[in-house]
Amino acid sequence: MPSPNAPGDATTPPASPNPNDPPVPASRGSDKQSFAFPTLAKRVPVTITKVIDAVCRIYMTKGFEADPRNDGKTTADAKKIVADVGRLRYELQHDRKLEHIRDDGEGDFEEWNEVLDKYFPGATFFSATWLFVECYVYRRIREAIQLAPTWRSFDPFLESKTSSFKDSAKAVEDLVSRFWEPPKPAILSSPEAVRLLFHELVQVCLWGNSMDLSLLPNLTAETVEELQSRASSGLAAAEANILRNDIEAAWTHIGQKSGAQIDFVLDNAAFELFSDLVFADHLHLTGRAAKTVFHVKTIPWFVSDTMISDFDLLLAQLLDPAFFGFASATQTKVEALVARWKGYLQRGEWVLREHRFWCSGFAFWHIAERAPDLFEQLNASHLIIFKGDLNYRKLVYDAHWPVTTPFAEAIGPVWAGVPVLALRTNKADCIVGLDEGVEAAVLAKGDEDWRWSAKYGVVEFAK
Ligand code: F6P
Ligand code: MG
Repeated sequence: MPSPNAPGDATTPPASPNPNDPPVPASRGSDKQSFAFPTLAKRVPVTITKVIDAVCRIYMTKGFEADPRNDGKTTADAKKIVADVGRLRYELQHDRKLEHIRDDGEGDFEEWNEVLDKYFPGATFFSATWLFVECYVYRRIREAIQLAPTWRSFDPFLESKTSSFKDSAKAVEDLVSRFWEPPKPAILSSPEAVRLLFHELVQVCLWGNSMDLSLLPNLTAETVEELQSRASSGLAAAEANILRNDIEAAWTHIGQKSGAQIDFVLDNAAFELFSDLVFADHLHLTGRAAKTVFHVKTIPWFVSDTMISDFDLLLAQLLDPAFFGFASATQTKVEALVARWKGYLQRGEWVLREHRFWCSGFAFWHIAERAPDLFEQLNASHLIIFKGDLNYRKLVYDAHWPVTTPFAEAIGPVWAGVPVLALRTNKADCIVGLDEGVEAAVLAKGDEDWRWSAKYGVVEFAK
């Protein structure tokens, strides 16, 4: 259902926009020119197939049910998941109506169904908004797993997250060698040195988002290394690809307070999470932060997103000398780094926080009304850092704003006065905050796919 509103029409957006008809038209799979179409037609079916493959790889092994490592999982439940997830893929590929989520014991199924009834009656996978549909797909995968009781703790994406982290050895080693020990007093006493380090680490954190398991499902170790080199050794060259760069504005803001609370709304696990932690660590070591809250997902989400279990696993993988197989001098540095991070966690200076809202289909324009408790907590923060593409899409309602729309306008009235920093590599159509001429310059280079290739990124700040 196309929106009747043209971009920029809504000077006074409604208090609670309709998720299927937001103030500015949103991306939909029915638009064949957009990245929504190939995503729903090709990429998401591949992801769903990988879920089926992951289940089959486990249960189709000899002696599966008797193997204690399988934790009592049954073949009957495995077949149920395969059937349910297969049905989801069929419904998507035949553009069927979005069905209710069944009562799978998760506390949010009723809310999903109310939203489906109220805003998406009769909507199909390609006619509804891309943002909502893609979130709905991951919620349906969760439903299939929850309704197979012996598989409830199964994360279908765990293997891909683990193997991508293993392939990140070189980039991890680069960052460890630079950041394993606290900055020397000579650095800390030089405001310019600290400013430059902040610039560098924001970019580390930004390009840590460029690698994406759902965007690049057949990653080779070489591609991983090439992409990650931007987040370690290749920063200077990559800076030209930041199409809107508010790092200095963010630095000015962050410099106004020491010992502050900083919040990270995390995106992907594995290397991206590692780069986020290096940055968060640095904010503590330089006195900017006294408390950092990491917001994580409650269910396996968009293939690579971080849950509490991924966070814990990352620390365990770093401490396992066999995981990367680093030389002992490097492994000793890794251990020092992780010991410091564990200290923050033990002292409550680093906190992990889950909230279902991050795994809903809602754009962040709805946070105050849908998750008032979370919004109130976030209001205590001196800076909220939103990582990645999906968080950015949710901030700007995944809508077709003119590219020069100010970021503060596109994130909606609810964030007015709240310090927000988005670090996002471009993997979807929506983009705002660009200066006049930036889009034309990128197109002149022949980068037709600049909105979603992850070659370009934005660092956008508003308060
Ligand atoms: O599939 C939609 C999408 O936004 C992609 O374009 C992107 O690959 C993925 O979801 C999520 O990206 P990120 O992990 O950066 O949020
Ligand atoms: Mg993600």
